[in-house]
Amino acid sequence: MACCCVFTYLAKAVLIFQLICKVFPWLYKNVAPKILGPKVKVEDYGKWAVITGATEGIGKAYAKALAKKNLNLVLVSRNLEKLQNVSKEITDKYQVEVKVIAVDFKSSLQIYDTISKGIEGLEVGVLVNNVGISYSYPEYFLEAVDKDPAFLQDIISCNIHSVTYMTKMILPAMVGRKKGLIINLSSMAAIIPNPLLSVYSGTKAFVDKFTEDLNTEYKDQGILIQSVMPGFVCSNMTKIKRPSLLTPSADTYVNSALNTLGYSRHTTGYLPHAFMAMFLGLMTSICAEFANNFVLKELLNTRRKALKHEKKN
Ligand SMILES: NC(=O)c1ccc[n+]([C@@H]2O[C@H](COP(=O)([O-])OP(=O)(O)OC[C@H]3O[C@@H](n4cnc5c(N)ncnc54)[C@H](OP(=O)(O)O)[C@@H]3O)[C@@H](O)[C@H]2O)c1
Repeated sequence: MACCCVFTYLAKAVLIFQLICKVFPWLYKNVAPKILGPKVKVEDYGKWAVITGATEGIGKAYAKALAKKNLNLVLVSRNLEKLQNVSKEITDKYQVEVKVIAVDFKSSLQIYDTISKGIEGLEVGVLVNNVGISYSYPEYFLEAVDKDPAFLQDIISCNIHSVTYMTKMILPAMVGRKKGLIINLSSMAAIIPNPLLSVYSGTKAFVDKFTEDLNTEYKDQGILIQSVMPGFVCSNMTKIKRPSLLTPSADTYVNSALNTLGYSRHTTGYLPHAFMAMFLGLMTSICAEFANNFVLKELLNTRRKALKHEKKN
């Protein structure tokens, strides 16, 4: 009987210990940034920030938020006119310098020479690897590849090559100065079930893993590398226009994500998304099969609607 009591107390103690080990780090990573603000000053890393995919959505929001912190900007996107408009919008509002570089991340690796020439001589303290593309709607792998033969090449070039080659270009000078901040846009899709968007999720899992290991390699050399894993954010990619608690505007999202710098190497960036990731993670750990089928059903519904819409037009 006494033995049974000891085991019950021991089991309770282990449970409470495990809860504390999980709950406190979670609160520190997700709630503390909201209350205490960022632990890291982006402006301390250098005079310039380079942002890829900077004319819309999350990339444009990072550009505005970094300009507000007095960083000069290099905006890299594919459309020169849009780049010039964003540049004007930012310089009209903030006293910073803005350079633009028009390249298509779907094209050959030569674009990295163009970008490299464009940033020559600049003290780049912050790199935001934001550019990324997804499917136009959820689709089976073989159908997606059949419909667009360039699909695989394009998504890998935009989502993986961009992150690795931009890092290769900018990291050496950061290491030389012993300071640098790299923010890589992964996605919650990398860690939750995401059938019918498998190539996108795979590329985003690459970004997260690359970030984790690279951060470990360079953290002792003054380099901070963060993986940001949003859920849904209003943007052209999601086609969601009206912000809500679970789907914030890009500006709201980025202001929240910037606060997490120094707290977390790997963050959803936004408290409601952290709750969502926790809920989905719990669902997956209890019954992965159920979670996979639940998401598959939802995404098949989205696919059905998109195909119907495509047929009509
Ligand atoms: N929005 C979300 O819910 C969400 C969730 C998780 C992760 N993310 C990630 O966050 C990042 C930004 O997403 P977003 O929703 O802000 O996307 P978005 O609204 O579609 O904006 C993408 C930006 O990248 C540029 N771009 C697209 N293709 C390009 C190419 N081939 N070459 C050069 N520039 C190109 C776009 O320029 P144009 O103006 O010329 O199109 C635009 O400035 C992506 O990496 C995405 O995977 C987003």
